[in-house]
Amino acid sequence: MRYQRLYINIDHVATVRQARRGASPDPVAAAALCEQAGADGITAHLREDRRHIQDDDIERLATSVVTVLNLEMACTDEMIGIATRLRPHQVTLVPERREEITTEGGLDVSRDPARLADGVARLNAAGIRTSLFIAPDLAAVDRSRELGAAAVELHTGPYSHASNDPATLRALRDASRHGASIGLAIHAGHGLTVENVAPVAAIPEIEELNIGHSVVSRAIFVGLVEAVHELRRAMDDARASA
Ligand code: PXP
Repeated sequence: MRYQRLYINIDHVATVRQARRGASPDPVAAAALCEQAGADGITAHLREDRRHIQDDDIERLATSVVTVLNLEMACTDEMIGIATRLRPHQVTLVPERREEITTEGGLDVSRDPARLADGVARLNAAGIRTSLFIAPDLAAVDRSRELGAAAVELHTGPYSHASNDPATLRALRDASRHGASIGLAIHAGHGLTVENVAPVAAIPEIEELNIGHSVVSRAIFVGLVEAVHELRRAMDDARASA
């Protein structure tokens, strides 16, 4: 089975730093450690309210990341301006409402399609690969293709909240197969952990996982390098035995 990339989301390192508004822990230093541990890319979400990652973090990540930077952001003029200036390898467009604690749902790709299509076109024109974070829903997959995205990131939140409900995994499998069949690259993420990642990692079409909170949480006990290694092992084992 094809190698599956592991991108580590370092937002929650910044969350700890922002608790004191100081300089430590530095998410950019954490990103370098994740890369040394074998991460294939670094993901960071610049939120409109700047609650964790700050503009300066993204500026520094854009020049320091030696793998690839996946910038998560809302489809707004401000964010598209930042992305087209810094030119990360990939932008993942996510929904954003200020009151959310995290990214609760996927993008509503049927609402305001002209704005999304324009955002994707501007990113594509700047040479940035564009992924849309969506629910594992066949119609949303089709709409994402029509909007010009190269990839979709399937929301694994429903699966992670009910991983013993076969319907949540089936939705991910069906959306992955369908998306790949119409030429989309398939990514997945949200709420994945060492304990629940195996069935998702074993889906052959999924080429990239984005994982953050569980890695940073686990790092408190075993360190960041070991936390990344544990995830990598769980992914590799799942694909080897699929
Ligand atoms: N992918 C997207 C689009 C996200 O918004 C998030 C959460 O920031 C993640 C992946 C990572 O989720 P988690 O932190 O739960 O691993």
